[in-house]
Amino acid sequence: MSLMQTTHTLTGAPAPADMRAALANFATGVAVISTLDPQGKPFGMTVNSFNSVSLDPPLVLWSIGLRAHSLAIWRAAGGFVVNILAADQENLCRQFSSRVDDRFAGVDWTAGRDGLPLLAGTVAAFECRTWARYPGGDHEIIVGEVLACHRNDQLPLVYCQGRLGTVQKPD
Ligand SMILES: Cc1cc2nc3c(=O)[nH]c(=O)nc-3n(C[C@H](O)[C@H](O)[C@H](O)COP(=O)(O)O)c2cc1C
Repeated sequence: MSLMQTTHTLTGAPAPADMRAALANFATGVAVISTLDPQGKPFGMTVNSFNSVSLDPPLVLWSIGLRAHSLAIWRAAGGFVVNILAADQENLCRQFSSRVDDRFAGVDWTAGRDGLPLLAGTVAAFECRTWARYPGGDHEIIVGEVLACHRNDQLPLVYCQGRLGTVQKPD
């Protein structure tokens, strides 16, 4: 028995809700971008807009919504760390996208090479210097030059169709 498949096709420029719904089918990892605010306090934010750009030089990107309260912190930041969450770090995904006063409360971290916060227990981390910022519609694209990277062989947290999950370990 075959399952009925429904394909929604839209012509013309899609409305934001249609864009969001179609993009939700693109499975991504989940990252917490961390830095120090102008007062030197650790600050971080959950994103899934992270992606690779270049291997030589090593560059990565992520984008921030222009309406984010923390936009000024990211524009002022000379550097940041991309912390790629592990499958068991759903709680960090939620904490770093929430409106709590201190998103670092109770979070285990160490200072990286330039003093920026490296979260404990992640599957990978990229310590970056802010390399460029570009306009991107209702977001701003932030490109980082990777100065150091870390990885282990745990499974990553995955975000797809509005849900958090993980992948199966390949044989
Ligand atoms: C899975 C997930 C992915 C997200 N990705 C992004 C992103 O790529 N860019 C962004 O600006 N906000 C993203 N957000 C929202 C932010 O984490 C945050 O909640 C929002 O920007 C509020 O931050 P503010 O306190 O600076 O306003 C994401 C949230 C979740 C849960």
